[in-house]
Parts: sequence; structure tokens; C-alpha cells
Amino acid sequence: MVVEPAEALFGEVDIPGDKSLSHRSIMLAAISDKPTYISGFLPGLDTLASLSAIEQIGISVQQKSGTELYIQGQGLSHFTQLLAQKNRVLDFHNAGTGIRLFSGLLASACGQIKLTGDASLCARPMKRITVPLRQMGVDIRGAFFEHNQEERAPLFFNSSKSPTKLTPIHYVLPQASAQVKSCLLLAGLFAKGETTLVEPIQTRDHTERMLVEFGAKIKKQEKKISIEGDPLYQKLALKNGHYEIVRDFSSAAFFIVGALIAKKAELLIRKIGLNPSRTGLLTVLLKMGADIKIINTDFIQNEPIGDLMITSKNKLTGVSVSPEMLALMIDEFPIFLLAALKATGPTIIEGIEELAYKESNRVETMVKGLSQLGAKFDLNSIEGKLIIYPLKKPERETETVVLDSAKDHRVAMSLFMASLLGGAPVKIQIQAIENIETSFPNFFEQAKKVGFCFNLIINQGGAKCRQERLL
Ligand code: S3P
Repeated sequence: MVVEPAEALFGEVDIPGDKSLSHRSIMLAAISDKPTYISGFLPGLDTLASLSAIEQIGISVQQKSGTELYIQGQGLSHFTQLLAQKNRVLDFHNAGTGIRLFSGLLASACGQIKLTGDASLCARPMKRITVPLRQMGVDIRGAFFEHNQEERAPLFFNSSKSPTKLTPIHYVLPQASAQVKSCLLLAGLFAKGETTLVEPIQTRDHTERMLVEFGAKIKKQEKKISIEGDPLYQKLALKNGHYEIVRDFSSAAFFIVGALIAKKAELLIRKIGLNPSRTGLLTVLLKMGADIKIINTDFIQNEPIGDLMITSKNKLTGVSVSPEMLALMIDEFPIFLLAALKATGPTIIEGIEELAYKESNRVETMVKGLSQLGAKFDLNSIEGKLIIYPLKKPERETETVVLDSAKDHRVAMSLFMASLLGGAPVKIQIQAIENIETSFPNFFEQAKKVGFCFNLIINQGGAKCRQERLL
């Protein structure tokens, strides 16, 4: 696709449902004792892969619209019985959250189940979940298990016991990961007794909040979380049977930073999820001097929300981002680099190690792409530190520069917004943008609505339809 620098961004952006909450809500609904109505579901490729896995297990799902679902859970022990029925292959495509959380949900499975995904997913580390799951008694192995290397997907469950009896554990997570924490909390529901997890750094707490909504026995004390499990007698259900998913702050982030770096901008984003374990980007941008107003704050389903009004009025200054703060903006790293490039002084980010294990190595892919636009960085991978220098206007403008998103949805959307940096090439051509569908299916529609001008030249099925609709 080719994107031209937009002169100005104005209007309101509609953000789809939160990806993390969409995955979690359908998984908890699948083991709930009562039917659950879910609204605001994200109909992205990642979350649809999790939904299809739930249907393959044998849970009845009725889709009223792309964003509204009824899931007929019949309780934890019924779910475990369904798992014992036949061998299955579950394909999670690009979804790390899908495969890692589902591995917790399948912890007491009997029989053979294979969990797999696309090339990017099968390259991501899985030992972080297989090691603690095996400690709980789960018979799970990733590819390369025998060689004692890092394990990867496909993951194989292979238990002959029905259902597998699990032991609760006390586990200190070696890395800050909400996916690992959530996987183990879900597995903990199937282990009789108390499973306790200790996080090195606080990460997103959606699973904890949602488990409270579903009536699970969960306690939290700073970075220590305990869950009381009972595979036979535990009952989970929402009080009113309805889970409303808030809109995804991580998707809004592209337009927030886009508006801040544009020549002129005034954007409104309504009813967006503002869970403090997700909004590190907002904290950092406000510290940099950004003009962002937060109004109409409220709560939906134990999750804070609010409206954001963003203008490009203020100049940004450079900041330091600590590892603790980075954990609260882990998915916003690619788009944050653009704000840092527009700042008047250098920005330092520490604790970047985990970013190598996302849908792509996000430090590498972003540094490479932005360097092609003239950006200057100091990267110290050993110390886990990145310094970003203010972007200087190039002496000579080039017509078009070709950037590679490495099939990473968040990198693709960040490089799209890089067209607003100004000064660099007149047009930006981005390769491999299809995966934007995994988290933000209406991204191009929204971009067009607020003032972007672009041309989608893609030969693949789904994206071609989009081109016809938009141009
Ligand atoms: C997620 C946790 C984070 C995040 C991912 C979604 C979740 O991954 O990057 O996009 O929904 O729990 P890690 O747990 O690998 O940090």
C-alpha cells in the first residue's frame, strides 16, 4: 500500500473492541455455568481464531452480529468432559494471546490436542508456559522439547488420564507477561487448591478483573495473585449474563500519536478502555507535554473507560521510559517511537528485551523502517536500552520509500502513521499489511474518515475487497 502525508486529521475515530478482553471473555464464557451474551467483541482474525477453537471443543456459539455473541457454557467439569471426546487440531493463526491462554484453559484435557498457528506464531517462545504447566501436572510439549531448547508451537497435549489431575503451584514469573500470568490463572481454576503467581513487574490485569466479574475466588496483593481452584464444584457466571467489551486502547494509540505528530489535528475517541495497566502511553505522552483531554470517565464491567480529545497544539519533549512503565505500554512501543521522533530532545527507553518476542522483533523492525526515513537511534540490546533522537528534516526529499512491516499488524499501522512525520519521503509504501486485520479490521476506513489519503495495492483476497470498498 502507498500512503501520502495527510495535511490534517479531524473528526471522530471509531475504535473496535479490545483484543485482550475479546479473547478472555469468550474463554471464560466457555467455562461459565450459565449462558453469556457478549457485546463489543472484536471481529479480528486473532479473536475469531479463539472463537473457532471454542466451537471446535464443542461449546455452542451463536453469533448475532460480528460483535455480538451468545456462548452456551455449561460449567468447568462439562468443559473438561468435552475435551476428552476426540483428537483435535486448533489453529490460532497469528494470535499469541489465543494460543497461550487457551493452553491454560486446556490444562486438564485428556486425549490428544495440537495447538498451532502461522509462521510468526510458531516462531514465538512457548517454554514460558510449558514449564509451569508441566509443574502443575499438565502433559504438554512444544516442538523441539526433546532437544531441551526453547519450545515453540505446535504445542501438543497428550494425556491419557481423564481428566488430568492438576496440582496448584506457587510460581514466580521469570518475565513480565500477562499472557503467561493469564494462562496459569486459567489453569489454576482446574487445580484443587490455591495457585499463586508473582509478577516481576505489573502487567495488564484484565484476567484478574474479569475473573472477579465471573465470580472466581481470586485475591490480589500488588504483584502477587492467588486463585482458588476446584474442577468439580466451582461455579462461574456473570451476575446479569452480559459482558460488554470496552474499546481497545492499543488500537486507539495509532490515532492518538497520529494526531500528536500531524501538522494540524483535532481527534475525538469515545468510550475507550483506560485500564491503568494498559495506559502507560497516555502517562508518558502527557509527561511529554501532549494535549490530550480525558473526559466522561466511567466504568464498564470493572474496566475504566473515558473519551479522549487530542490536538497537535503542543510541542513534545523527550522523556525517559522505565521498564515498569514500558510494561504498561508494551504494545504501544512501535507507535510511541513516532512521538519520540517528534520530540525536541532524546527519549530513552529501558527494558526492551521482551519486544523481541512479539509478532515480529519489534525493536529491529521499527528501527529498520524508521531509519529508512532518516531516524537516528542508539540501540544497546545487551542492556535492553534504546535512545531515540529527534528526527531532522532531510536535506533532500525522496519520492517514495518502501518499508517492510514484517507481517506485524502493529508495525504496519505505526509505519502508516509515520507518513505524518513530515519532511522525509513524499510517499510511504508499506509491504505486508494484511495482518492489520488481526486487531483492527476497520483501520483503513477510520484512517480515511479522518483525512488520510492512501492507495491499497494488494493481491490477496480479503484486502482486495477492502480496496474496492474504499477507493
Ligand atoms: C497480551 C499480553 C501481552 C501483549 C499482547 C496481549 C494479553 O503479551 O503484548 O499483545 O492479552 O495478555 P505478553 O504477555 O507476551 O507480554
